[in-house]
Amino acid sequence: MARITAGVATSHVPAIGAAFDMGKAGEEYWKPVFDGYEWVKQWELEEKPDVVILCYNDHATSLMLDVVPTFALGCAEEFQPADEGWGARPVPTVIGHPELAAHMAEQLVLDEFDLTIMNHMDVDHGLTVPLSLMFGKVDAWPVRVIPLAVNVTQFPTPSGNRCWMLGEAIAHAVESFPEDLNVQIWGTGGMSHQLQGPRAGLINPEFDNAFLDGLVDETDELRKITRLEYLRESGSEGIELIMWLIMRAALGKDVEQLHRFYHVPASNTAVGHVVLRPVAGAPSAQAA
Ligand code: DHB
Ligand code: FE
Repeated sequence: MARITAGVATSHVPAIGAAFDMGKAGEEYWKPVFDGYEWVKQWELEEKPDVVILCYNDHATSLMLDVVPTFALGCAEEFQPADEGWGARPVPTVIGHPELAAHMAEQLVLDEFDLTIMNHMDVDHGLTVPLSLMFGKVDAWPVRVIPLAVNVTQFPTPSGNRCWMLGEAIAHAVESFPEDLNVQIWGTGGMSHQLQGPRAGLINPEFDNAFLDGLVDETDELRKITRLEYLRESGSEGIELIMWLIMRAALGKDVEQLHRFYHVPASNTAVGHVVLRPVAGAPSAQAA
């Protein structure tokens, strides 16, 4: 049986990818950021997940305004790093898991989540930067990836609570996949940041740290945060945090926090990163 063994959340700032690709990770500005990911790189080597369900958002790179799926599930054999205007990042092709993805698509429909099925999708920094942070520089990613792209760029974006419910349904779907697979779920984006307008540069460490605290055991409070509150408190791009709620909900009621990191700033963004483990024996989200 497939099992979700851990959840990982991280910011996905594109400048982190550029610094990584250009060998600047050791520079004074970047070192504290990359140091925050040393722990997880070692941990991932030990965990050896088979598949990552990677919740992220496309930044009008692959999904343009002509089609705006709220939730898009990557069901393809592979996904190419996208050209975001400066050429594609020099990172390996992302290999999918079409069998588990197809199973998820079917089970999610039965659970009344009708996801857009993507049989072709290029993947931007929202997905590739977290892979670089967790696995470093590699010739091939050591894991299969099922991309789940969430619309946080065009209104109407989904609510945080809807994302929570999707995470619960994903847990349900994974648990009924017969193959023995070690599955992780990741939520990317955030934390507070605003890239445009009069409040460009906004960062709110109080909000971010309360969110990190709540992620462990005050999730009912996080579920209630409205899109307007994300906008007001965490800036126009802080809404990316709703993708962390998909990850958290898929872990069930009780979790243990294995690692937490917070750093301000990287580019325009407050960088947050957590690693969570579902508590063994805890009732799953669906069974609760
Ligand atoms: C930045 C952060 C993001 O999450 C993003 O998608 C684009 C830019 C930034 O901090 O510059
Ligand atoms: Fe982003």
